[in-house]
Amino acid sequence: MQRFVPARSQMDAALRSSGPNALGIRFHTRSSRAARTFDAVNGLPHEMMRPTGWFQIGWSGDFPTGEIVSRRVCGEEVIVFRTEDGELHGLEAYCAHMGAHLGFGGTLENSCVRCPFHGWAWDTDGQNTNIPYADRPNRAVRMRRWDVIERNGIVLLWHDLDGAGPTWDVPDVFESLGGDVATREYHPDGQIRFGRRTLSPFVVLDNVADPAHFTTVHHQPAVPLVVSAEADEHLFRVRLGFGESWKRDPENATGDALDILQVGVGFSYTALGGKRSPLIVIVLATTPADDETSELFQTVWLERAPGDEEPGRFDERMHHATHQLPYDIEIWENQRYVERPAWTASEVRGFTTLRRWASGFYPAAS
Ligand code: FES
Ligand SMILES: [Fe+2]
Repeated sequence: MQRFVPARSQMDAALRSSGPNALGIRFHTRSSRAARTFDAVNGLPHEMMRPTGWFQIGWSGDFPTGEIVSRRVCGEEVIVFRTEDGELHGLEAYCAHMGAHLGFGGTLENSCVRCPFHGWAWDTDGQNTNIPYADRPNRAVRMRRWDVIERNGIVLLWHDLDGAGPTWDVPDVFESLGGDVATREYHPDGQIRFGRRTLSPFVVLDNVADPAHFTTVHHQPAVPLVVSAEADEHLFRVRLGFGESWKRDPENATGDALDILQVGVGFSYTALGGKRSPLIVIVLATTPADDETSELFQTVWLERAPGDEEPGRFDERMHHATHQLPYDIEIWENQRYVERPAWTASEVRGFTTLRRWASGFYPAAS
C-alpha cells in the first residue's frame, strides 16, 4: 500500500502560487537578484540554487576553537568560528567597514573577529565593538549574522534568501529514523567529502522517490516496493522494501528495508538493513555553493557487528556501504533537470508529491 500525505501548509503554498508548472514549483521573480534565467547547473533557474533551510558546511572537527573558517553557501561568503564556550557562530565574510574578507587574516579576540585591514572588531551578533583609531565603535553598521548548529557531529548553516531566521529545527539522525535505529551500537562515523560538484540539490532530492533506478544504477535484482511515503512539514519520509516478502506481506516482511528521511532540500538520513543484517546509517548532504556547484558530504555510521575486529573487515563493510554513491553522482552531474518528465503511472505520484513538497523551501511569492 502506498501512502502519500503532503503537508497542508506546503501543498497550499505550492497551489496558491501563480503560474504553477506541472509540479507546483513556482520560481519567484520578485527581486532583481532572482531574475528568472535558466543557465544554472542542471539547466535550472538560478533561484533554485538558493533554497531556504539548513545546509551542511562540514563536521564539528572542521571548526576548532579560535579558528576562522570560510564557506560559500548559496552564493554567500560566510565565516564560521567557534568561541571559547564551544559555540559556533556565523557572520558575513566581508567587513562592513570597507569590505575586506575576514576569512583572510582575520583573528579572534575575546569572541570578537578583528578585521585584518583596519582592525575593526565585530562581535558574534555582528555589532561593531571597537575601532582602534576612533573614540567609540560604530553602532550604525552591522554585519549579517548566520545561524549555525551542530547535530550528530554535522555542522549546518541556515540559509534564507531574504535573511529570515530558522523556522524549523534539525532532528537527531538516529531518533528520527525510528524503529530501533537509536538503540543500536555504532562505530564512529565515517566522513566522505566529494567537494564541489556540478549538480543541484534538486536532482539529488529526486532520488528519494526513485525506486526504479535501484536495478539499473545499483544492480539490485528487482525494483524495491515503496512501502510508504509521507510528507510532514520540513520532513519527507519514505520506506522502500527489498525482496518478495515486502510484496507478499509488508507487515511481516523479512527482507531488507531502506528508510529515508529527507530533511528540507539540503540533506537526507538513510537507514539500510534488516532483521538479519547490521544497520548502515547515512547522511547525504548537498549544499549549494554557487549557481554552478554544490558541495557534497556523506556521513556513515556502521552498526557494530561480530567479526568487525578481523583485519580488513571494517574497511570492507565501509566500502560496501559507500561504493554505490559515485554512480549516482555521475548521473546527477551530467543530468538536465526536466520539469515535466515522461513518468510512468507508477512514478508520477511519488515524484510529483515530492517536488511539490520541495517547492515549499523557496521564499513565498509576495
Ligand atoms: S575593511 Fe575591515 S576594518 Fe576596514
Ligand atoms: Fe541511488
